[in-house]
Amino acid sequence: MRLSKKNISILLLSGLFMLSCRGHISEKPPIHPNPNMDFQERYNAQEVNTFFEDSMAMRRQVEGTIARGMLKQDDAYYRGLNESGDLVAEIPVEVTKELIYRGKERYDIYCSVCHGGVGNGRGIIMTGQYGYVPAPSFHTDLIRQMPDGHFFSAITNGIRTMPSYATQIKVQDRWAIVAYIRALQRSQNVPESEMGRFDVDLAELQQEYQAEQEELAALEEARSAGASDEVSAERGEQLYTQNACQTCHSTDGTRLVGPTFQNLFGHDVPLEDGSTVVADEDYIRQSIREPNSQIVQGFAPSMVPFDYLSDSEIESLIEFIKSLSDQSESEE
Ligand code: HEC
Ligand code: HEC
Repeated sequence: MRLSKKNISILLLSGLFMLSCRGHISEKPPIHPNPNMDFQERYNAQEVNTFFEDSMAMRRQVEGTIARGMLKQDDAYYRGLNESGDLVAEIPVEVTKELIYRGKERYDIYCSVCHGGVGNGRGIIMTGQYGYVPAPSFHTDLIRQMPDGHFFSAITNGIRTMPSYATQIKVQDRWAIVAYIRALQRSQNVPESEMGRFDVDLAELQQEYQAEQEELAALEEARSAGASDEVSAERGEQLYTQNACQTCHSTDGTRLVGPTFQNLFGHDVPLEDGSTVVADEDYIRQSIREPNSQIVQGFAPSMVPFDYLSDSEIESLIEFIKSLSDQSESEE
């Protein structure tokens, strides 16, 4: 373009215009010379639309259709199930060091508060009396034998009183956590004969373990020193709430995760192995200390041993359970 006088003055003028705009905030929408179809009527999320019979503007996916990229056909990967619909025995993705470390990171965020950093069920929320159902340890034979899919399913669907973590944890990360739990299980279950394979000083480990045990014993002693020795049904009732027994055991006959305490004392209890026992004090004591030694018929062996309860606490719980029975029958 040839710079005539006219062109130069236009340039200057437009330059002035631009300068004069700086620092001004306009309340008006910007000029939009060609609106195309940029501004149209539309519905906001959750809005009413009477055009449809159900008056919902947001429509459900058409039945029998799948959105692009949402075909989750791989049952093993997405649901932890094999062809016959059982939980997969093994993680269906390649287990690499990266996957395990990713699993550790996610585990520490989502699971360790309850299941504990090493998976022993002694997470931070379990150490106090927060009234939460104690999380099981992953280091029992029962849980070591579970298929990989069991852990995946617990995260995906929740299990009994534990809620699902599916909305927080992506599928790939769930498998990473499963891999890490397996690593934790191994780390806590190495026979001494195999320790030689690792570059560790056994004597030093033994000492560390000893020190840890003493520390735990001291903590336990400190806890019980302050605790009362009182045995009463009232104290038992408090303990029943504090230790979250009520999440699994009702007092009014309702069946929850575990059997009701109503009319338990002094009555016959059918066990899973076909035998029958009378719910006396010994039976109840043992049911609390070692719940998996006698499984009540029709219930899963899902109660965690309450080994941290003191004797007077257990006796109080027994008194409380007794108070829920009609006395005439329990006296026979
Ligand atoms: C808020 C506490 C809490 C958190 C967090 C938590 N759990 Fe749990 N978990 C529990 C409790 C309580 C149970 C026992 C539920 C029952 O038996 O009713 C349980 C049970 C389980 C079981 C079943 C064990 C069995 O009996 O077979 C698995 C597996 C499990 N959790 C894995 C996980 C994983 C993996 C995470 C992290 C993604 C996690 N949990 C996070 C509390 C928790
Ligand atoms: C996570 C759920 C859960 C929690 C929490 C729980 N239990 Fe249980 N409990 C069960 C289940 C399931 C059974 C039946 C299976 C069995 O015998 O182990 C059971 C069985 C029992 C029995 C035997 C009952 C019978 O009908 O024979 C007693 C007694 C008992 N629990 C006491 C307690 C006490 C006391 C607490 C609290 C300190 C407690 N439980 C906390 C799940 C739980």
